[in-house]
This record gives sequence, structure tokens and C-alpha cells, in this order.
Amino acid sequence: MTARMTAFSGEGELPRVEGVTLADVAARFGTPCYVYSRAALTSAYQAYRDALAGRDALVCYAVKANSNLAILDVFARLGAGFDIVSGGELARVLAAGGDPGKVLFSGVGKSRAEMRQALEAGIFCFNVESAAELETLNAVALELGRQAPVSLRVNPDVDARTHPYIATGLKSSKFGVPFEAALALYRRAAELPGLAVRGIDCHIGSQLLDPAPAAAAAAKIVGLVDALTADGIDLHHIDLGGGLGIRYRDEAVPTVAEYLAPLLAVMRDRKEQLVFEPGRSLVGNAGLLLTRVELLKHGESKNFAVVDAAMNDLARPALYDAWHAIVNVSGKVSHGGTPAPSRSYEIVGPICESGDFLGHARELSLAPGDLLAVMSAGAYGMAMSSNYNTRPRAAEVMIDGDRMHPIRRRETITELFANESLLP
Ligand code: LLP
Repeated sequence: MTARMTAFSGEGELPRVEGVTLADVAARFGTPCYVYSRAALTSAYQAYRDALAGRDALVCYAVKANSNLAILDVFARLGAGFDIVSGGELARVLAAGGDPGKVLFSGVGKSRAEMRQALEAGIFCFNVESAAELETLNAVALELGRQAPVSLRVNPDVDARTHPYIATGLKSSKFGVPFEAALALYRRAAELPGLAVRGIDCHIGSQLLDPAPAAAAAAKIVGLVDALTADGIDLHHIDLGGGLGIRYRDEAVPTVAEYLAPLLAVMRDRKEQLVFEPGRSLVGNAGLLLTRVELLKHGESKNFAVVDAAMNDLARPALYDAWHAIVNVSGKVSHGGTPAPSRSYEIVGPICESGDFLGHARELSLAPGDLLAVMSAGAYGMAMSSNYNTRPRAAEVMIDGDRMHPIRRRETITELFANESLLP
């Protein structure tokens, strides 16, 4: 098994997540269905806590990776903070019992209404990404008679060496303020009565497999923090963002401790609180997408397995050409004991686009009706799903030991057009 989903056992007769077989999940909730492991979520969070033991540190889960309330609930109970990028995500965190005092608000385009909402909730800090946002946030805070806690997201101009769509630390990206402009902007922020300067932030990209660029960014940030101190601007925390990658296929992925070690070395002897914003590394390998083979189609040049999940359920393959392991999890029962011949399959969904695939050229032994697990789908899976082709969004289930909890029921067709109207 190349995929490294925690708490998944693909060997043996009946593949399971924790103590529950995937056949039972499909029988009870149908497919397509996202399946998560509470134990895997917990151990991923614990790896951060262990690596940061003895440090004053806050781990803020990046809600965008998977915003299901039950997932937020698991992390809130473990004491996590949250990194949000919208008023909607803030509302989710609050509904899940998250502590607003541990909420970071990131993003390049916060609206005034979102700023108000976050100020009223009493969040930990705004990660401000432009000079214009600084002025607007100051004005909104003054209208409310409050001070907004702020960090500047500084763009350290390092190459994160990841997919260009998810690299954010280069000068050319839309994120953050330029490193060279940061000092002047901090001075401006310190002057504005509606703002309380609290920290500094950087996030250079996602699915990072090498800590070196993040450590280089951290070193640049620390240099800036010292320049700020010399200027009379003292910071309470340093936020080094998220970005640690996971194993999808056979990538050499550092453990959380290995990834953080060079960053912590840069931060040694510093008084500031450390903040991180991991998303993928907390949830990615704690979830899979369960789908059923509708039919097999043997074409002249290719064999297709048409499954009931599609690019609307999991957009990553279509969007980034991302590779997710696909495993037949039917167990031996499906073939009546005689395995179907193994072939190279295109695993495709029912959507009317050639880009609607979940995997290319997968060597699998398949029969119609088989259950497949698309692995490592806990991050940016359900969160990026859509209703394209008027397809109801999948159900979501959380496994906890030998129990399965429905954490989002499948949408119904009528819900999909409930907000629409006919002309008068
Ligand atoms: N902080 C900020 C400011 C971010 O923009 C992100 C992710 C994170 C933290 C969390 O990063 P992570 O630890 O998950 O790498 N949809 C893409 C990934 C987009 C990442 C967006 N920002 C994908 O499916 O690969």
C-alpha cells in the first residue's frame, strides 16, 4: 500500500477505517461518501503538540482544508485554534464550539462586514495582507470603538518549490506585503489608533515536502522582527503559516517533528509565541472518498471504470492533476472469490467533461459494483466540492473506534434548486 492514510487497513478481507468496514459504511450511508477517522485527526494534531512541547505555541487549524463542523469540533476539543479566511468559516468555528480568542483571520480580501463580525467575536489576530486593508480595518475598528489585533502577512520572496497554483511566497504572488515594504507598514500600523500591532505572519505555500524554504522564510522574518524591535515595535507572536505536505503516492514526506525542527532552530531563544496554520497535514490522510463502480467500459485504447464520484466531489485531480491512490476496498466478497482480471483503468466520473477523472492508468482488478477508496482525500476534498451537473454533494461520516457518526447527510436534489425561482 503506497498511500499512507492513518487508521486505514487495506490488507485482509474487509478493508476498514479504525474498527468499521468500508462495506458497512457504504451499506448504511451510500456512495459517494467521505469517510474520516477521528483517531487519525487526533494523532495528526498530537504530532504538532508533541513537536512543540515546551514552547509557547498555538496551532491554528486552517479551516479551508475541511470545514465540516464535526472536524472543527474534534480540533476544538483538543485545544486547537483556527485559521479562517471568511466570515462563513468564522461562523462555523463558533458553531463548533471553537474559541474565538484562538482565531486568526487570513486572506487578501476581507470585507468590512467580515472585519466587523470578527471584531465582535473577539478574535486573536487579523493577518493583514495590504496597506489598503490596514486602513480599512482601522476605520472599521474605530467605528465599533475597538482595537483590532493585527499581524502583517509578509511575503518573504522564497520559492516554496511546490505546484504553482499553491505556491504563495514569491514576489509575484497576490499574497502578503512585500518584505521591503513591511517596516514602513508596521510604522503606519503602530500609528493607527484602531489597530494593536500583535505579530507577524508568513505562509509560503502548500504541500511542502522540504522544510528548507520555510526555514529560510523564518530566518528572514526573524530579521525583520529584530528590526521592528529596534524601532520600538514589539511583537507578541510569530506565525509561520501552514504548508507541510502529506504522502499521496510515494513522496518522501518529513514528519511534523522533522519539518518543524529547522524552523524551531531558527526560533530558538525567542520570546515570541509561535503560531502555525496547518491544514492538509492535519486532515489530508485522515479521510478518504468512498465510491462505487457503476460500470466498466472496455474501449479500443483504454479501459474505463465509471464510478459514482466525480470531479464535483473531488476536484484535485481535474484541477491540479493531483494523484490520489485508489484502492479496491470491496474485500473478497465482491468477486465471489474469483478476482476479476487486473487491467489498467481510467477511473472516471459521470460528469460531461474529459477532465472528470479521479485517476489515470490504475492497475486494478475491478467488477461492476465494487467499492473503491480514493485515498488521502481529507484535505481540500469535500471543502472544494460543488454541485456541478446538479449532483448532490456527498455524505460525510466520522469513524470513532467501532462507531460511525453521520456528520453531513447527503444533499437531496430538491435542496439543490431550493433557492431558485421561476419567472413571475
Ligand atoms: N494559511 C494560509 C494563509 C493558507 O493560504 C493556507 C492554504 C494554509 C494556511 C493551509 O495550508 P496547508 O497546511 O493546508 O498546506 N486546494 C489546494 C491547496 C490550497 C491551499 C490554500 N492555502 C490543494 O488541494 O492542494
